[in-house]
Amino acid sequence: MKIALFSSQNYEKPFFNQFALQNPELEITYFEEKLNHQTVAMASGFDSICAFVNDCLDANVITTLAEMNIRCIALRCAGFNNVDLPTAKAHGITVVRVPAYSPEAVAEHCVALMLTLSRKTHKAYNRVREDNFDLNGLLGFNLFKKTIGVIGCGKIGQALVNILNGFGANVLVCDPNVGEGNYTQVNLDMLLSQSDVISLHCPLTEQTHHLIDEAAFAKMKDGVMLINTSRGALVDSKACIGALKSRKLGYLGLDVYEQESELFFQNHSGEILQDDVFSRLVSFPNVLVTGHQGFFTQEALSEIARVTVDNLLAWKNNQAIKNQVI
Ligand code: NAI
Repeated sequence: MKIALFSSQNYEKPFFNQFALQNPELEITYFEEKLNHQTVAMASGFDSICAFVNDCLDANVITTLAEMNIRCIALRCAGFNNVDLPTAKAHGITVVRVPAYSPEAVAEHCVALMLTLSRKTHKAYNRVREDNFDLNGLLGFNLFKKTIGVIGCGKIGQALVNILNGFGANVLVCDPNVGEGNYTQVNLDMLLSQSDVISLHCPLTEQTHHLIDEAAFAKMKDGVMLINTSRGALVDSKACIGALKSRKLGYLGLDVYEQESELFFQNHSGEILQDDVFSRLVSFPNVLVTGHQGFFTQEALSEIARVTVDNLLAWKNNQAIKNQVI
């Protein structure tokens, strides 16, 4: 089976090669190009394609794929919002995905952001390299006995709760769809008003768009820490700037950003960034931004490759596919 893998990055090839070697019937060709109207012709001669979050799988691209006799789209990510499912269905194309590759990877990154912001290890690293051992400006706070609010307690939120309990934190959870657990369930207003640290782990939907806005900041404690490793648009970035300037927001850790598709996963270091909101955000000393790397561990990449290869083999062999979208 010949697979055209689009948007390929060097860091994921060893993981896919490892599983492809164990399954010689799979032949993977890596294309660095994103899949879109211009590049879809590259899929000619392949049996299936493997796509990622920013690949375009709209009705036109899928129709062209169908004309090339491609019958399986293997997404190597959880989300499928970039796929025109009705068109794929109409052409009898199977779509598979990787629903959960490592909730712990994201939860641990979230804790890394919390501890870096609190203990200022990023600043200490630079100081010590210049033989500056002054502790002024590095004063942190304990997570022990702090109240930490987790909004959305699915796979990642629960993994985070488990870690935070180990810190001896008082963990509050707001999630309409979970029962009792190793946390205290509260409503959103109570979570916003009582938490020293707030971490977002709900999906982006119409209801959760700008869940954290000016009104939400007004309900929070002064000097609160906010962490977003979920989706950028859960937070109103401009409201964050206001809250940082007024010192309502004491610490901000972001792994996702509203307009990230223009910025993340690429090197823009030689360019002039046009996004003034982003530039203002990263200029604050108490803001830490990482470029959507919460998922980026060896374990998660290995799991993504393993499940994608399993999905493709199950499809090829006409077996039941656990992770079939349609
Ligand atoms: P999940 O589906 O297991 O859990 C989401 C939870 O949010 C569910 O329990 C749901 O009931 C809850 N929820 C929905 N609406 C809510 C609301 N209005 N208020 C409170 N809770 C609400 O999803 P999972 O796997 O835990 O992922 C969470 C999010 O993390 C994803 O939606 C994705 O955006 C993000 N993510 C980020 C990654 C990164 O690299 N930074 C990697 C993977 C996922």
